Amino acid sequence: MRSTQNRAIFVRVAAAGQGARGHAASRETRIGVVAATSELLTIDDVYAARERIAGRLHRTPTLGSRTLSERVGAQVHFKAELFQRTGSFKPRGVLNKLSTLSDEEKARGVISISAGNHAQALAYASAVEGIDALVVMWQAASPMKIAAARAYGATVDDSPPDIPAAFEHLDRLVEETGRTLVHPYDDPLVMAGQGTVGLEMLDDVPDADVVVVQVGGGGLVSGIATAVKALKPEARVFAVEPELSNALAASMAAGESVTIEPKSAADGLNGPYAGPNCVRVCLDLGVENVLVTEDDLKEGFTFMYGRMKLACELAGAATAAALLAGKVPLERGNTVAAVVSGGNVAAQTAAAILAEQ
Ligand SMILES: Cc1ncc(COP(=O)(O)O)c(C=O)c1O
Repeated sequence: MRSTQNRAIFVRVAAAGQGARGHAASRETRIGVVAATSELLTIDDVYAARERIAGRLHRTPTLGSRTLSERVGAQVHFKAELFQRTGSFKPRGVLNKLSTLSDEEKARGVISISAGNHAQALAYASAVEGIDALVVMWQAASPMKIAAARAYGATVDDSPPDIPAAFEHLDRLVEETGRTLVHPYDDPLVMAGQGTVGLEMLDDVPDADVVVVQVGGGGLVSGIATAVKALKPEARVFAVEPELSNALAASMAAGESVTIEPKSAADGLNGPYAGPNCVRVCLDLGVENVLVTEDDLKEGFTFMYGRMKLACELAGAATAAALLAGKVPLERGNTVAAVVSGGNVAAQTAAAILAEQ
């Protein structure tokens, strides 16, 4: 694993086209013939993450869905990460990153940016480790998520008016404060931590041959794909994004990280750019892109509440949305493992979406 830069996110995005170190797998692996690997992140990094975070987080369950299985003609299982500590998968990556910081780095504190779930994870994990945490959010971010991050003990700066302004603000604060950046997705240590979800999915559903993951900036899917493609090279990994927030698909098509203006109601998936490291890993591993509409997301959400009894957030329902909308190309007899990535939604927001359906 290469070490990560701790500064100037926009500079890193701009530099992505010049190629991050770690180009690896042969592209023929995109058709899933041989094991795909990326020099940037390996299964050993994911195993190391699993050791570092062992015993510190919940072992979330994997739940079958008979109704969805019948509808799509394949066995479907959901990895219920909405039951993870802080309500999403996010503390996996954060704890892995924090456990590698020196005492001096810990003393300087950490900083990040988030729509809310990474903020809560950083706040929670930093409090456990006795590290001071500062999180940049923005004015339209979920008040519930802002309050939760503060309640876990982080300082939240929600002064920026919107997402692009928040990222610029973060860059300035990283320079000014000397805090260590715990990037929400584009850090190999964070990606490796998220990859532990993939290890558990394959433990629970060893015959999974289709893995479906929702995407914001790409940390979760690149970590899971690293685990899955190493252990089951023939499995296909699908990265689900809203049409209104398609940074990873656009970046993979361009061959480099591109910046977009995300506008999905699924706030957890509104990454303004896919991480250059994440894009590299997804290209190396042959991750396949799937886009869902806002209506698909609401239908997935309603299905999760009504049938699965899972109070997830819109982002968490994106995988169900893609499956229900027939956007994941399945073959009869496939076994599907799909992530339900988070459950941090205000009751009023959930009620409004359910009332619409
Ligand atoms: C609930 C939820 N699902 C999925 C994601 C996407 O994760 P990533 O940015 O690693 O792609 C996020 C990111 O914040 C999230 O909060």
